[in-house]
Amino acid sequence: MEQNAFIDKLISEMTVEEKAAQMLQVPVSVVGMEAAREWARKGVGSFLNVLGDDMRELSRISCEESRLKIPTIFGIDAVHGHCLNKDATIFPSQLAMACSWNRELVEKIGHITATEVATEGIQWTFSPILCLARDPRWGRTNETFGEDKYLSGELGVSIIKGYQGEDLSDDTAILACAKHFIAYGEATGARDSYDTEITMRKIRDEFLPPFKKAVDAGCATFMTAYGSIDGTPLTANEKVLRGLLRDELGFDGFLVTDWDTVNALIRRQKVCADHGEASNAAAKAGNDMIMSTLEFYDAIIDQVKQGKINESYLDEAVKHILKVKLRLGLWEKPLKKGVPGSIGCQEHLDTALEAARDGVVLLKNNGVLPVTPDKKIRKIGVIGPNADDIRAQYGDWTYFTHPVPGIEKEPQRPFVTLLEGIRKQCEGTGIEVCYSYGCSVNRRYYYKGNYPGIPEFMEMCYEDNAYNADYYQEMPLVSEAARMARDCDLIVVAIGDNYNQVGEYNDRANLEPSGMQAALVRVLSKFNIPMVTVLISSKPLAIPEIAGRSDALICAFNGGMFGGQAVAEVIFGKINPSGRLPISFPVLTGQVPVYYNQFPGWHEGRYVDCPKDPLFAFGEGLSYTKFEYSELAFDKETNTVYVTVTNTGDFKGTETVQIYVNDVVSSVMTAVKNLVGFDRVELMPGESRALKIKIDEDAFTVVLPDERRVIEPGQFEVMAGHSSKDEDLIKIMVTF
Ligand code: BGC
Repeated sequence: MEQNAFIDKLISEMTVEEKAAQMLQVPVSVVGMEAAREWARKGVGSFLNVLGDDMRELSRISCEESRLKIPTIFGIDAVHGHCLNKDATIFPSQLAMACSWNRELVEKIGHITATEVATEGIQWTFSPILCLARDPRWGRTNETFGEDKYLSGELGVSIIKGYQGEDLSDDTAILACAKHFIAYGEATGARDSYDTEITMRKIRDEFLPPFKKAVDAGCATFMTAYGSIDGTPLTANEKVLRGLLRDELGFDGFLVTDWDTVNALIRRQKVCADHGEASNAAAKAGNDMIMSTLEFYDAIIDQVKQGKINESYLDEAVKHILKVKLRLGLWEKPLKKGVPGSIGCQEHLDTALEAARDGVVLLKNNGVLPVTPDKKIRKIGVIGPNADDIRAQYGDWTYFTHPVPGIEKEPQRPFVTLLEGIRKQCEGTGIEVCYSYGCSVNRRYYYKGNYPGIPEFMEMCYEDNAYNADYYQEMPLVSEAARMARDCDLIVVAIGDNYNQVGEYNDRANLEPSGMQAALVRVLSKFNIPMVTVLISSKPLAIPEIAGRSDALICAFNGGMFGGQAVAEVIFGKINPSGRLPISFPVLTGQVPVYYNQFPGWHEGRYVDCPKDPLFAFGEGLSYTKFEYSELAFDKETNTVYVTVTNTGDFKGTETVQIYVNDVVSSVMTAVKNLVGFDRVELMPGESRALKIKIDEDAFTVVLPDERRVIEPGQFEVMAGHSSKDEDLIKIMVTF
């Protein structure tokens, strides 16, 4: 039977109750298996947060015991690998992946994740996040591809292709979910899920482009954002969900709400009085599937029966869901098969290592790196709370932070922390490695054992004015680290944040490293021993003093299983770092937002007590070699930039060539520059390559006050170079 006819027939046979159930997604981790079985019998559309035998049982019940035997879909947050399963491959966080600026790698990560998720039987991941992280105080910064719309859109398309493959019915293809629609990262004050003070013009200009690319790439599902735009919650925002996403962009998959957002319309956002109103508003706005608000079921049935909503709204939503189920081939294969034996297999682990390597960003190096035999290092002191803490290295959305019932939380090998990576690099070299914890990231630590420090270093902590009443209990730890460090030839200090400072509900008002971490670095720097600081964190932190005191600074974010190994390989020159920042680092918290594509302004965006520029800008990242740019040209016919890049240093290296455009005069203000293209090129010492880089089709457009995107004729600067900083770019003028 023709597909539409099959679905139409099915819908014509469904009762209102069955339609309401099909629109519901039930969280098994919350309701438990007994209730979940009942929901499966009612013909529920989807379950989330269930693995293994429980999942298989629910699948069987929906296929065999529900009246119409419509298979159910299982969804999970596999956002940097299938990380809620402790045996799976854990990749760098989305932000750390973005440091690679590597489309092929990100697609491969998507494919491997899909394979592992599918091997479990599951057909759907709630990934990727395509929101921009323009205010790093936001707790979910780590889940994004950074601050830029073009980079997020490109990497978003890559990971979607990786998840969904060529055909959704393939054994290793799963549904991607572009989330959270829309402008979720723009919550005022970076307070997660809060109201957003932006206009529709701004949304079209900045926040829509990555989602538009996701629709064009065939992303099968989207998720609504928790927040609101100018007072209207997204869950009830018909203009945005139905008008913009469905009608204008032509999205033809299904749209799921975020967790319990229908309830939030009543309890948190207070725009609906009860579940009847909230369910009605959510369905009319264009949500097809309702995540976790179980009250929706009775409420929407009642609304239909009372004539408050036309049943056609339910028909339409169910049709969107069933069409996707059909594309998945669920009637033939209710659960995915994947590739047996592939979860955490060697080939996948190798890609996790490759991703960790590509994501390491070297931000400062006064020559201390790489550590080579001629530097005659005999003893390395590895210090700091994040040097040997796999949970900090993993960040959010793993079996530690989001445990699924039945999965233990003990760290599962293989993984390599920084300490382990450095020890490995030093094996057989005669270099001694010693380790000290230094201080905790963010908890008051009460030292229980014998006092391990020595008075002179305790004094140093006090003299240094690092004393902080909350943390004074940690002084012995700092002092112990100082005692250990004093006869080392190199100090590697790993600081950052911890998984309990990351994610939903965990926004920060202060981006300075928490606890005694800054004091630890300050004390260690007094020995004048070469010092490498490694930032293992979920986001940029405000670290001007730490950067200043360090001889080298490496940003590793949350590097996944082999994050520690990759950083160690960079330190010892086994690999030449090629990562670039997908997000800017503020000097002070009060300087945010400090993203690179700001508007020009009369007061030059500066403060009396803080510079205008970020500490490290979007696109920055050093290599052990140097690259030079020449022969920049642009071809209007093909929208292609031509530029030659030369490796002028002594090491083989990979350069990320970045292309920016500035609309010189426009009728509305436009950013000082916008990224419109990039490519990676590996060059041997002395080698030159002439590159052709096709740039974004919207590169020369502007969004007018009436929300139309047009090209305004005039002059444009086309820039190419190493980072978003003016001094790193060469430019030409182009006229349209
Ligand atoms: C998050 C989503 C996630 C969902 C399901 C929500 O709280 O905002 O990103 O996919 O939970 O776990």
